[in-house]
Amino acid sequence: MNIFEEKESNVRSYCRNFPDIFHRAKGSIIYSESGKEYIDFLAGAGALNYGHNNDYIKQRVISYLDSDAIAHGLDMYTSAKKEFLEKFFSSVLTPKNLDYKVQFCGPTGTNGVEAALKLARKIKKRPGIFSFMGGYHGMTLGSLSATSNIKMRSGGVTTNNVTFMPYPYGFMESFDTIGFIESVLSDVNSGIEKPAAILFETVQAEGGIVVAPVEWIQQLRNLCDRHDILLICDDIQVGCGRTGPFFSFERANIVPDMVVLSKSISGYGFPMSLLLIKPELDIWEPGEHTGTFRGNQLAFVGGVAALEYRENCHLENEVKVKEFFLQNFLVQEIVPINENIKIRGIGMIWGIDLVNFGGASLAKKIAACCFELGLIVERVGRNDTVIKILPPLTIELSTLQTGCSIIKEAFLDCLLHLK
Ligand SMILES: Cc1ncc(COP(=O)(O)O)c(C=O)c1O
Repeated sequence: MNIFEEKESNVRSYCRNFPDIFHRAKGSIIYSESGKEYIDFLAGAGALNYGHNNDYIKQRVISYLDSDAIAHGLDMYTSAKKEFLEKFFSSVLTPKNLDYKVQFCGPTGTNGVEAALKLARKIKKRPGIFSFMGGYHGMTLGSLSATSNIKMRSGGVTTNNVTFMPYPYGFMESFDTIGFIESVLSDVNSGIEKPAAILFETVQAEGGIVVAPVEWIQQLRNLCDRHDILLICDDIQVGCGRTGPFFSFERANIVPDMVVLSKSISGYGFPMSLLLIKPELDIWEPGEHTGTFRGNQLAFVGGVAALEYRENCHLENEVKVKEFFLQNFLVQEIVPINENIKIRGIGMIWGIDLVNFGGASLAKKIAACCFELGLIVERVGRNDTVIKILPPLTIELSTLQTGCSIIKEAFLDCLLHLK
């Protein structure tokens, strides 16, 4: 038994599926203490879109640290925060014609979701929130109440005025989910009160890589407008360029009332969480939603460098090339293995759904076999039946290819042993 198994809480999770001691990492490769190399198709669960220890970002962080600049700044005005805001507006918001105020939240994604839910309730003076079946929004009590996985709420955590609506997935794909929400809102006997906001992901990542159709997202925006409900996009995992454009909702040409960003916004894996708020909705009183760690200066510095890097390397185009590669690989090499295997994805987030072929046990075996063969790949979705491909956006094409061939090899190995 190692010190982790002996001393770390039972709640630990990723380490159980990837039982090695990691030591060093560069780009898309992680090295263990024993020197074994792993290709990383997990990318810090989306926090490492620019790869591990990206040199461009690293140099900026090192010189910032070296200059004895402010490291922790609460929410005071600092040079690093000023530069971050200037860059975020000039590179992202202004060119996209997006008019938002920026709220710096506590350090992790869930803190941004908490702020969004609290602000929405304050604005609309209604307690209710609609979230979606399959949605994942974090583990603090507010965002957990909007996370649909019942197991995560076991032991008495309530859904605190959150109602789960159907997402266009599985059986619901052929069901008019927007029509259903419309009828809930219009029927005085639906038993469900009008919410302050609808919280959604354009791609349910933890939910099994379920990509909402463009028309669905547009209808959702339209429904919120007609019913005076705020639309909150949780872009924590699939924002920051994961699907190609900086925001995942851009493909639907809509503007949410609030957007939550985290994970890769700091560029280097540093904790940072933002809530973007339409200016007229920014009705916070000063200090009404506060927190000690809202001023991670290294995250600001990394975030500026990351946006520069994104532009210099034409990362949006890179994602298109790699999306094409990933889709072709899955269609040509994985789907033919069995007609019941389903693939889904967009940009550089893809899932291989084994719910109708081998289910959770096969998915687990394949992911474990990948790990043996030197690839880190996670499972998501209902009962973890979906193998999730989430490499850094910066991965070299040859490494992406090698990682994909490991997935195929693992499939074939596992199927051989099943016979
Ligand atoms: C869509 C989404 N929302 C919220 C969160 C919670 O973020 P954090 O774990 O940083 O609190 C996650 C984390 O995976 C996420 O994927």
